[in-house]
Amino acid sequence: MRHTIVAGNWKMHKTYQETHKLLDELIEKLPTGKEVEVIVAPAFTNLGSAVAHLDGTNIQVAAQNMHQAEGGAFTGEVSAQMLKSVNVETVIIGHSERRHYFHETDAILADKVNTALRHDMRVIFCIGEELKDRENKQFLNVIFNQLTDGLFHLTKEQWANIVIAYEPVWAIGTGMTATPEQVQEMHAFIRREIERKYDLNVANSTSILYGGSVKPSNAQELFANPDVDGGLIGGAALIADDFAAIVNAAE
Ligand code: G3P
Repeated sequence: MRHTIVAGNWKMHKTYQETHKLLDELIEKLPTGKEVEVIVAPAFTNLGSAVAHLDGTNIQVAAQNMHQAEGGAFTGEVSAQMLKSVNVETVIIGHSERRHYFHETDAILADKVNTALRHDMRVIFCIGEELKDRENKQFLNVIFNQLTDGLFHLTKEQWANIVIAYEPVWAIGTGMTATPEQVQEMHAFIRREIERKYDLNVANSTSILYGGSVKPSNAQELFANPDVDGGLIGGAALIADDFAAIVNAAE
């Protein structure tokens, strides 16, 4: 169901000790009583202990990735069942860094989505264009293709477990945040394409998050857009004061 979400993608940061120090700081500093779902996504090695640490708080834990297979000879990989076994129910799939560095194609990502949904997990599915696509005005086509090839095989019912994160690759970690106008244009486009494929109910029930250099200084303006339902935060999620300020900026 559509609601506001602020999720922190910690990427490959924080040891076990650093993870639990940051979690203590977040428990202390994050606002309570807001209609905002807060999620943190630590590294695989710290997921189980993070879930235990956050037990009794309103902070959820997500994985940053998972393999599409149920199990087997996939050295170094982690399955949906393994995530569920440590009470992780949400998984980020298709982050641009997975697509770029680990060559995860739309077909592989669709397979990962299918496996996650088969295990009743919630998926935060990342889409985003590269700078060349923005410059040559192909960005809407790129996003349409990522939606189509990654998610548009799903049934209406399956969309209840889908969250979209629009992350222009050129804004990730660069400090080059997309303008509120660019963000609203893309989020409205994504919502319209979901409506066109399915119906208005599915479109209006899907949370669409923005990611790409969200900071305390720009969060409020970004989140104020009608089709922005929160954010997927990278660097600022690693600093308790900044992440708390971003959560505070979300309504
Ligand atoms: O998944 C969120 C991440 O890619 C955004 O990173 O550092 O630009 O907030 P950052």
